[in-house]
Amino acid sequence: MADRLPGAKVPVDTQITIEMLENTPAQVYAHLRDTQPIVRLQALGGRIVFTKAEDVTRVKTDAAHFWSSDTTSPMQRAFGGHTLMRKDGCPHLRERRAMMPALTPEYIQHWQPTFEELTNKLLDQLATQDTVDLSSAFASPLSTGYLKIVLGLDEDGADRLFDWASALVHGAMNASNDPKVFAASDRANAEMNDCFDRMIKQHRASPDGSVLSTMTNAEDPIELSQIRTNMKICIGGAVIETRDALLSTLYGLLSNPDQLRDCIASKKWGKACEEGLRWVAPIQASPRIVKKALVMRGLNIPQGETVMAIQASANHDVSYSTAPDRFDICRSGPPHQSFGEGAHACLGGPLYRLLAAQVVLPKLFERFPALALDTSSPVTFHGFAFRGPKVNCVKL
Ligand code: HEM
Repeated sequence: MADRLPGAKVPVDTQITIEMLENTPAQVYAHLRDTQPIVRLQALGGRIVFTKAEDVTRVKTDAAHFWSSDTTSPMQRAFGGHTLMRKDGCPHLRERRAMMPALTPEYIQHWQPTFEELTNKLLDQLATQDTVDLSSAFASPLSTGYLKIVLGLDEDGADRLFDWASALVHGAMNASNDPKVFAASDRANAEMNDCFDRMIKQHRASPDGSVLSTMTNAEDPIELSQIRTNMKICIGGAVIETRDALLSTLYGLLSNPDQLRDCIASKKWGKACEEGLRWVAPIQASPRIVKKALVMRGLNIPQGETVMAIQASANHDVSYSTAPDRFDICRSGPPHQSFGEGAHACLGGPLYRLLAAQVVLPKLFERFPALALDTSSPVTFHGFAFRGPKVNCVKL
């Protein structure tokens, strides 16, 4: 099919390693944007990657040429079924609509007092310590705490959220079909299904407006199998990401004290939240399948291939923003792509923004205006597909 197209073959890069993608992704993507914006990376099994902002947008929004339908990826095995993220057209829309009412920007406002209560409780605990690990003492419990409420889980479920998310994510990336990795995702699936079934009974008796309750009590509900797998998307794609997005933003602010002061004085929490998301995209890349062969930048993109749209790179494209590697809350320019675009754009974006910009950032710095990085413990970022800082200690 590709041979009949008028373009050239996509070049192959053999120099970039998976370690480089994990350790210094911003440098790797800057180099690729300048030299080979569409390239096959040997380090990713020869997958074609797109690093320019306009190409990433096209891959996400050009439904005639790119789609998400994929029943062959390890994701289906890892999630115990076919999720809405790997469907297209009406079947996708039907499942997306089933959870949408619980996540609209208007509807979620009523969770704000509950998020404030959760945040205050964690801040009270921070107040008892001189130096804290912001990940384990703050960002992680915030992430599980707000998702427990919004997804409609119980305490047992909330306690298992990071383990479940990790098992799902590793399973979804288990291209080599390692049986140990699938055994872990199978265990997580069994535990999650038990938790959902327990909670569905409760939500039938007393609906609470959570995502699970909304899907369960819909007038024309989707199948139980789909309620389960799509709840797993909200777990596998939100728990780690919320923690990482909060930590990247906090690190951006704490390592730029002038901007933090400006933020506190002028309440630019919305801008700080967006800049943190842009600076280090918690989900760096999204796969798509080429539905119909096409030519992009003079290169043949063959039908049937799995390609990667790198939103982390799109967010740093100089055609969109100057000095892109710098954390800068006063940046203007087009919105970042960290929540994706098109038919599969994240349904949880407004919820994260409510938590971070309206509650967590203002409350944290109101309570601890002198918060500072603990310079004896350097902050390091980790992850190729999912990315966030590893350690984040501060002196209170
Ligand atoms: C900072 C936190 C988050 C980030 C960075 C994030 C990022 C993303 C991205 C990039 C996608 C699109 C993937 C693609 O195009 O293939 C996505 C999809 C999705 N996200 Fe999020 N997400 C976050 C939080 C949440 C939360 C809190 C929820 C729900 C409570 C959620 C629910 C979903 C769902 C259901 C989809 C699939 C939509 C569809 O396929 O139609 N996300 N997310």
